[in-house]
Amino acid sequence: MNITVLGSTGSIGTQTLDCAENLGLNVVAMSAGKNYDLFEMQIRKFKPKAVAMSDKQAAEKLKERIRDLPVSVFSGEEGILRLFEETQCDICVNGIVGVAGLRPTVAAAKKGVRIALANKENLVVAGDAIKKICKENGAEIIPVDSEHSAIFQCLNGICPTENDIGSIQSKIRRLILTASGGAFYGKTTADLHNVTASDALLHPTWKMGSKITVDCATLMNKGFEIIEAAKLFDVSSEKIDVVIHRESIIHSMIEFVDSSVLAQMSLPDMRIAIQYALTFPKRAESPVIPLDFTSLPPLTFAKPDYETFRAPLLCRQVLRTGGSCGAVLNASNEIAVEAFLQNRINFLHITDFVEKMLDKYPVVSEATIDELLETDKKIRLEERPD
Ligand SMILES: NC(=O)c1ccc[n+]([C@@H]2O[C@H](COP(=O)([O-])OP(=O)(O)OC[C@H]3O[C@@H](n4cnc5c(N)ncnc54)[C@H](OP(=O)(O)O)[C@@H]3O)[C@@H](O)[C@H]2O)c1
Repeated sequence: MNITVLGSTGSIGTQTLDCAENLGLNVVAMSAGKNYDLFEMQIRKFKPKAVAMSDKQAAEKLKERIRDLPVSVFSGEEGILRLFEETQCDICVNGIVGVAGLRPTVAAAKKGVRIALANKENLVVAGDAIKKICKENGAEIIPVDSEHSAIFQCLNGICPTENDIGSIQSKIRRLILTASGGAFYGKTTADLHNVTASDALLHPTWKMGSKITVDCATLMNKGFEIIEAAKLFDVSSEKIDVVIHRESIIHSMIEFVDSSVLAQMSLPDMRIAIQYALTFPKRAESPVIPLDFTSLPPLTFAKPDYETFRAPLLCRQVLRTGGSCGAVLNASNEIAVEAFLQNRINFLHITDFVEKMLDKYPVVSEATIDELLETDKKIRLEERPD
């Protein structure tokens, strides 16, 4: 089995390479952003045929370093797309952060391969368009996000041979996404005025990249996941609930019309979701430590505080409105999170800025991917959160 790993130097990417090694998969192509030190080590270990770095200077440095290896090195956004021309893969794992992952997802979809999708921003910005391209080209998306993998696994449990989710939707009352609550769970708006980026990066249960960790703290991540679930499983916003579950043992649940609930559980370790996206419909041994139920802490559940953390409400509104709203939501969130990480704005301003941008930009319905990326670019060029 040949796989392409996009974003191989990140949290998802490094764990994907662990899984690939464990499963004995052949890594044919990899991409990274700037981290050429780690990328070089990965290339020497996994021996892909072609690699790309989005940062052109980093790509030049990498080329110098790996002149002794028979590997093609490409650079820039176009360079990542070249990987799909130069190599053939069966599965593409997309662990790139942000909208930068969108064109690579489209390129993979056009090749008709399995896309193990971690990059939720893709579905927030262009979920409908991506699904259409996948359908036209016979590509499939298998979720890597732990909540969506959990739902996908629960669905598989009740319907092992059925690929079409539509036929089982009538049996589902709601999808229940669990949320750790992020670094600031329990805090009031007054408490949040002076929190710093380092405070926000202290996630209670998962170790992830900085952008998604801040998204967890604002609950924007959970809002994105509501959109992601709606797109992946064809359900409306009203059928998706969120419950705070601090321990991150239950990764999400399905409630059926008869009030029966299926949950997927494990220690919080992304390698289960990543590996399942690689092996589906089969399962394989993994290095993840099994649950010891008798030594677990009590599993707790609570309602999210949407007065303090409004982001999921904005995301539900975006889901209902559709069109270019997802591109506005994502672009404004990406630049606001970056400004917060650079200590240019305060934490509460992230959600305020996103809301302001959603009010400001008119909705374009039925937007193409190019139009959505134009909207993204315009916001990055013209708007400043500070
Ligand atoms: N981490 C998790 O547990 C987790 C769980 C669920 C979903 N996700 C989703 O998975 C995606 C990746 O998250 P992560 O936590 O793995 O992030 P991360 O640790 O920050 O890694 C991001 C990866 O993307 C690369 N990258 C950054 N900017 C890029 C650009 N402009 N073009 C191409 N590549 C670029 C980075 O390269 P360099 O490091 O070389 O610069 C790195 O390889 C996100 O969409 C996130 O929401 C993550």
